[in-house]
Amino acid sequence: KKKILQDLHGRDHAYLRISLIERCNLRCSYCMPEEGVPLSPKSHLMTNDEIYEIAKTFVKHGVTKIRLTGGEPLVRKDIPVILKQLATLPVELSITSNAVIIDKFIPVLKEYGVNNINVSLDSLDAEKFKHITRRDQFTKVYNNILLLVKEGFNVKVNAVLMKGFNENEIIDFIHFTKDLPVSVRFIEFMPFDGNKWDMSKMVSYADVMELVNKEFPETSIERLQDAKNDTSKNYKIKDYKGSFAIISSVTNPFCDSCNRLRLTANGQLKNCLFSSGESDLLTALRAGKPIEPIIQNAVHAKFKVRGGMDTLEKLQEPKLHNNNRSMITIGG
Ligand code: GTP
Ligand code: 5AD
Ligand code: SF4
Repeated sequence: KKKILQDLHGRDHAYLRISLIERCNLRCSYCMPEEGVPLSPKSHLMTNDEIYEIAKTFVKHGVTKIRLTGGEPLVRKDIPVILKQLATLPVELSITSNAVIIDKFIPVLKEYGVNNINVSLDSLDAEKFKHITRRDQFTKVYNNILLLVKEGFNVKVNAVLMKGFNENEIIDFIHFTKDLPVSVRFIEFMPFDGNKWDMSKMVSYADVMELVNKEFPETSIERLQDAKNDTSKNYKIKDYKGSFAIISSVTNPFCDSCNRLRLTANGQLKNCLFSSGESDLLTALRAGKPIEPIIQNAVHAKFKVRGGMDTLEKLQEPKLHNNNRSMITIGG
């Protein structure tokens, strides 16, 4: 059988990230420009059935894990139906959410076996949270993280680090894992269209480890075994219930072990987070044409590293990284 999800660098893609919606109930500055982004007309967005059809094709060719993203996936009204349909496929279902309204979805997430929930939280300070997200929802998010843990979900907390903004909270975030079994992942700020990225605003993997090494005795810092295809380098402090990690897409890309493909809410396949290239699956599906050949071409076109921006010099070129969509319509 032809492996249509294997690229020319030998990488098999078993992980599909599906963005369900372009809208969000927060407005994080690293994810979208203040004025927002142009939204696709509703008729250009995948319906539930189209999401299911496309997902089924990917599963047929080897996808075993699907993560739902957005915008904010829970803002999509028909998410219970989407979950119900996807739960019939032999895949691990997971979701990345800002958790503002996730408390209302706990029963439905449990019903359809969504156990892995990644939550964005960039600050433990309500004022800072408001500043970065442009919305006053810190308490909701914080309490919902505690609730998810209490309800037995596997929770990862995503914190995008920005110089002069939240690097002084790295240690607080690690202390947050002392009694709470979550993984806090510090994320290097990445460039996308409209997010005013600049290398100097980024806090790197090395910066994080320097602060950690200053704060904790060497013997208490444990390097954990990373899961296969993990985006993060994982650590924990001895005797803490949770762990922490760094997602170093800028300074230490993990493209060699990349197993991800992305489907945008308007039905475009992206072969890489950083790649501006897109392949239109939805139009083909609606025209009754087979989507497999399009998928195969897209996978074959995948660059080895970061959509072709393999060096830091290239990554820093605005005309390269501003070609891409804004993060809000990719979903991370
Ligand atoms: P798991 O499924 O738990 O491994 O989660 P994840 O880390 O893949 O996904 P999540 O949605 O929580 O994203 C966390 C951060 O990792 C975000 O900043 C994403 O943009 C980044 N990320 C996720 N997948 C990729 C990827 O394939 N490449 C790169 N460079 N970054 C990624
Ligand atoms: N750089 C790094 N991570 C980002 N995210 C959103 N925008 C960026 C960016 N510019 C993260 C969010 C979310 C995840 C899906 O992507 O923190 O948790
Ligand atoms: Fe995969 Fe692209 Fe991310 Fe590298 S940058 S890990 S190739 S999605």
